[in-house]
Order: sequence, then C-alpha cells, then structure tokens
Amino acid sequence: MLGVGIIGCGGISNGHARGWNANGDRAKVVAVADVVDEAAQTRAAQVGGAKTYADFNDLLQDPNVDAVDICLPHHVHKAAAVAAANAKKHILIEKPLCLTMDEAKEIEAAVTANGVTLMCAHNQVFMESVQQMKPRIEDGLVGDVYWIHSADCFLSRPFIRTGSAALASHAPGSWRAKREFMGGGELIDTGYHPTYRLLYLAGAKALTVSAVLTNHRLPQLDGEDTAQVLVTFDNGATGQILSSWAMNLPSGYMIHVVGDRGTLSAGAGRLEFKANGMDQPAVRELEVPDTFTREIEHFIGCLENGETPVQSLADGIATLRLIRGAYQSAEEQRIVQLDTV
Ligand SMILES: NC(=O)c1ccc[n+]([C@@H]2O[C@H](COP(=O)([O-])OP(=O)(O)OC[C@H]3O[C@@H](n4cnc5c(N)ncnc54)[C@H](O)[C@@H]3O)[C@@H](O)[C@H]2O)c1
Repeated sequence: MLGVGIIGCGGISNGHARGWNANGDRAKVVAVADVVDEAAQTRAAQVGGAKTYADFNDLLQDPNVDAVDICLPHHVHKAAAVAAANAKKHILIEKPLCLTMDEAKEIEAAVTANGVTLMCAHNQVFMESVQQMKPRIEDGLVGDVYWIHSADCFLSRPFIRTGSAALASHAPGSWRAKREFMGGGELIDTGYHPTYRLLYLAGAKALTVSAVLTNHRLPQLDGEDTAQVLVTFDNGATGQILSSWAMNLPSGYMIHVVGDRGTLSAGAGRLEFKANGMDQPAVRELEVPDTFTREIEHFIGCLENGETPVQSLADGIATLRLIRGAYQSAEEQRIVQLDTV
C-alpha cells in the first residue's frame, strides 16, 4: 500500500483526494500539509483521516509517506519538488512544473540524483477523447498531420480573488493575480492544459513559438486573461493554442487534428472523424471519466511497476519551455526558437 502525502490542501486537492480515495485499494493518503490548518483538516477528513502538518518539510520527514502529491501555488512548486526528491519521495506535481527553466533544471537535478519518479499531473491527457485520439493519429486515420488546434476557454470564475485583503501567496486563489506567484497569467495556468495536449498529440518536437497575450476582462491580474499561441514542429506540422478566461464560446470542440486524409475533432465527451470527401462525419459519444482518478491510477501503476509515467518530467519541461517561449515571444514581439529558451 502506497503511503501518500498531499501538499497544499486548496481547491484542486479536492479532486486529487477524490482520486486517491477511488484508488484506495492500492494507496492511502496518510498525511496532508497546508499553512492554513482549516484547509489541512478538511482534506484530512475527506481521505478518512490523515496526519496534518503546517510545514511540508515536516511531512517530508514522515516515514509513512512514500510519495507526495504537490497541489501548491506555482511559486512553491520548485521548493516542494526539490525537497521531496531529496527526501526520497516520489512526486506527482500539479501544473505548471515550476515558474522558470532554471527552476526546472533544479528539479531535474534533484529527481535524477535521488532516483525518484516524478509525474506531471497533466490530467487532460487522461480525457477519454484524448486517449482515443492518440492511437488513431498514430495509426494514420487522418494521414499526415499538418495542423492541430488545442483550446480551453471559459469566462473567469471566482477563483481569481482580489478583494481588499492582501494578496498573500497562501490565500486561496489570490496568488493567481500576482506574476511573482503565478509566473504569468492565464497561459501558465489554464493555458497549460491545451499546451501539453498539443505536444502529446503532435508527437513531434516543437521548434518555434509566437504568441499574442492580451487582457480583456481581468485588469486585476498582472498577466494576460487570453492567449493565442502558434507553434511549428520539426515534422512540418503547425499547432495553435487558444486559451482564455474571457471567452464564453459555445461548448464546441476543444481539439482538432487535421491531416491529408481527414479531420479528427474532440470535446470532453465526443469524438468526430470527417474523412476528406465525405459529407457526414463519424461521431462517437464518449464517457467522461474523472481524469484525476485516472492520472492517480496511472501514477500508482508506474510506481508499482517501475515504469516512466506517460507525462514524465521531460514532458513537464517541454511544456514549460513552450510556455516560457510564448511569454518571451509576446514580450519581444518576435518568433522565438525554442532551443534558445
Ligand atoms: N488540473 C487542473 O485542472 C487544475 C485546476 C486548478 C488548479 N490546478 C493547479 O493546482 C495548484 C493549486 O491550485 P489551487 O486552485 O488548488 O490553489 P488554491 O489557492 O485553492 O490552494 C493552494 C493551497 O496551498 C496552500 N499553500 C500556499 N502556500 C503554501 C505553503 N508554502 N505550504 C503549504 N501550503 C501552502 C494554501 O493555503 C492553499 O490551501 C496550482 O498549481 C494550479 O495550477 C490544476
């Protein structure tokens, strides 16, 4: 039985705790840490009781903890991941991996030196539609892929709190407004999902990135609320990411993959293939599973079998590189070569 420590007991740790509970025959959350005791107590109760810590460094000394699940604000990811690796704990870490490429190098060095497994919690890779698209693309259903569109747009939710209270890094959600805690704006948060989805489905090396980042509705943010990103790949394909907290688009498809034989499109619960020359698409309605339960099940399996996770540290670094390159592109108003980021 894998002993797990959840670090950071805010919003998303609710879904993670649900995922750990659903895999309760193979893993148990034995400890939780949060600087806010009430948050730690709530999460401990959700998992049927766990030891609570205010300081995650104390949780890392707990001999019952084999692996940690890092659900902290972005600016604490690097410190927690490095400390966890040095304490020989395996790591599941929420997106983004960390704030900068230098931080990513520190995480990589600690993970490599200590021989632990790190999996990036890229939960949308575990969407049924994404899981069904990947082998169909690899089997040549759409032919040679030349364009991939990956989008995630909605109107901002109350999680971007500002209010009169100080924007403390531990106040739930408030850290999202500050670049020093967030590392940017919408793109490094929600925009991270369509970015890793794009890279996963492209299965090619991203070469360049250019981005337009704008803020339309959330002036309280240091960063953007909308990101439009163009990517070129070494196989000649191009990719487009659209991600926004300012767009209430119809619940359309989030992903299109276009090749010389046809187009594969997907939303959370639907997959559609339109062969070139056909009037009607083939449509498949899909189940909408809990992606947190699926990613946690995969993480447990990797630890049990010594396998590399489908979204490994390398995938996290590649995703962060694309995101950092996009920020550089927007700031400098030019196309950025990713091998320089
Ligand atoms: N996969 C997804 O769909 C998804 C959705 C939302 C958030 N996230 C990610 O999850 C992470 C957390 O986001 P959230 O929305 O849960 O944030 P949140 O603000 O709701 O929760 C963060 C928690 O961390 C605690 N905390 C802050 N600093 C701490 C420290 N030094 N030590 C211990 N605890 C500390 C806070 O008290 C708070 O309870 C972020 O990386 C975010 O990008 C992922």
